Amino acid sequence: MGHIVILTGAGLSAESGLGTFRDKEGLWTRYDIDEVATPQGFARNPGLVHEFYNARRANCRQAQPNPAHIALADLQHFAADRVTLITQNVDDLLERAGASDVIHMHGHLTGALCAACEHRWTAPDTMSIADACPSCGQHSTRPDVVWFGEIPYHMDKIDTALATADLFVAIGTSGNVYPAAGFVQDASARGARTLELNLAHSAITPLFDETRLGPASKIVPKWVAEIQQ
Ligand code: OAD
Repeated sequence: MGHIVILTGAGLSAESGLGTFRDKEGLWTRYDIDEVATPQGFARNPGLVHEFYNARRANCRQAQPNPAHIALADLQHFAADRVTLITQNVDDLLERAGASDVIHMHGHLTGALCAACEHRWTAPDTMSIADACPSCGQHSTRPDVVWFGEIPYHMDKIDTALATADLFVAIGTSGNVYPAAGFVQDASARGARTLELNLAHSAITPLFDETRLGPASKIVPKWVAEIQQ
């Protein structure tokens, strides 16, 4: 089956009850991106940003992995050295389904980061502007997530994976946010076949060799079963 590189987005966790961003009633229709997902928004009103991510963390704790997370974790167990899992999601549902070494390019809700000294630690359930960094003591703690205008994490590792991909699969992502939206072209240019699994056509559907439409909980386990045959 060669090396499979899988990029997941909010659609993977939608059926676990976590909101997507750009769908009807998505998070960005209810919250202002500039206020809750940029370094400038955090500088203006850190309390509001903590409130937003505290709510996301609470949602995430209540959510359970769905059959799509479980199928991807099974695939990784089936062929660990030939499967790279990259996610834009800040939830830990892939890990809770049994996956490991998931590349969280947009960070994760379970992490806290000191904006002053870059120390990282496990985030408490509720973060606040009163929290002091356990390392330097400054009161500039933030969720360890990547905001608009910041560089996603692990880009070198991702680039190496894309360079050796035989198959690139994007699951439940709208193709609106770069650099992730450009991975299909990167993989394709390096000779990989490309497959999109999504509920609906995305902004980048024409770039894929094949697109399969349906809810992730159905089409991901079906695809995983196919390639394990
Ligand atoms: P979006 O909300 O932009 O897109 C969600 C995608 O999931 C859409 O293409 C939907 O069609 C699809 N979808 C919805 N329900 C689905 C289901 N049950 N099964 C399969 N697909 C489904 O989310 P992302 O593309 O992940 O970044 O967004 C990318 C980034 O934008 C996020 O990581 C976040 C956001 O702003 C930051 O906060 C930095």
